[in-house]
Amino acid sequence: MSGHLLEVEGLAKHYPVRKGLLIPKTIGTVKAVDGVSFHLDRGETLALVGESGCGKSTTARLVLKLIDPSQGSVRFEGVDITDMHGTPLRQLRRRMQIVFQDPFASLNPRMNVGDILAEPLIVHGIGDAASRQARVAELLGLVGLAPYHAARFPHEFSGGQRQRIGIARALAVEPRLVVCDEPVSALDVSIQAQVVNLLKDLQARLGLSYLFIAHDLAVVKHMADRVAVMYLGRIVEIAAKDALFAAPMHPYTRTLLAAIPRPDPHRKLARTVPGGDMPSPLNPPTGCHFHTRCSFATDACRSETPTLREVVPGHRVACHHAETLPPYSAAEGVHAATPVAARRLALYAERRAKAEAVAG
Ligand SMILES: Nc1ncnc2c1ncn2[C@@H]1O[C@H](COP(=O)(O)OP(=O)(O)O)[C@@H](O)[C@H]1O
Ligand code: SF4
Ligand SMILES: [Mg+2]
Repeated sequence: MSGHLLEVEGLAKHYPVRKGLLIPKTIGTVKAVDGVSFHLDRGETLALVGESGCGKSTTARLVLKLIDPSQGSVRFEGVDITDMHGTPLRQLRRRMQIVFQDPFASLNPRMNVGDILAEPLIVHGIGDAASRQARVAELLGLVGLAPYHAARFPHEFSGGQRQRIGIARALAVEPRLVVCDEPVSALDVSIQAQVVNLLKDLQARLGLSYLFIAHDLAVVKHMADRVAVMYLGRIVEIAAKDALFAAPMHPYTRTLLAAIPRPDPHRKLARTVPGGDMPSPLNPPTGCHFHTRCSFATDACRSETPTLREVVPGHRVACHHAETLPPYSAAEGVHAATPVAARRLALYAERRAKAEAVAG
């Protein structure tokens, strides 16, 4: 089949904020997601990264049609699903599933694992009791658990095992797209790697596509093919993972990367994003939303909204000054260009010179 598995165009979700009990008045709008566009291919992992509150989960809910958008469209397997309802939407739910951050909260404590895994099969009218039991055993095996685990209850498992059950439940109906909303954020670091490896292994075996949500870049390093960085409801940078890690262009992406802790204690950097807290999506800063925390901000940044544009092939950035920022260096305060950054900037300079020559 040609075309992308998932195509999201100008997607927005605005929540009116009301005040007053008797006569509620709308006093503003939270732009939880504000014009997001991206695509996802078959067998691919696109990571969606950004601080808490930047609109990642809302984007996930919009993609899965759990909520309706204020604007924009979602296409899945070539079909516009934006206004889909009723039976077609129920059938679509088999094709796209979600794994949640907190497996304990998302698993019914009163159901044993066998019933938890059989439930989606029953909801979608798949198989009879015997075939469902066989499928439950198969699903448990797929995520590294044993058939006897079917008789146990969620509280009898560790956090990592519970997330394996959450993954098995998502896979029960054989989806093509799995949205993973911070699936390892609640787990210990040592367990995180196991779950990430399991997801990668399942992707290779089953040809799954993942929209993988995380609040820090460290988690997506071994998981993603491409990475989209979100800030206050918008994507500010999107690129192949290697390009984004080697030569991040947007100042926000750079601060997120600098916040990743390093193994070398002498080069230990702050874990938090510098420049204070993320502003409220109720009253976001004018122009570039990031200007209140950006050390490169100019007057233009405060008044004009930067568009997400392709600065080098396959690498899109929403920054007025992407071409003239100092080359990125992973070392704090040192602006020595990495070889990859230098190559990409040289390529850009060459293209711009050619374009200017043509324009005369
Ligand atoms: N139902 C809602 N009503 C009002 N505001 C909401 C609602 N859902 C989310 N928000 C707001 O939208 C913003 C983005 O939320 P969310 O998508 O959950 O962010 P993330 O998953 O990146 O932490 C937050 O400021 C949040 O408070
Ligand atoms: S547009 Fe301006 S404020 Fe925004 S990231 Fe770029 S330099 Fe910083
Ligand atoms: Mg979230």
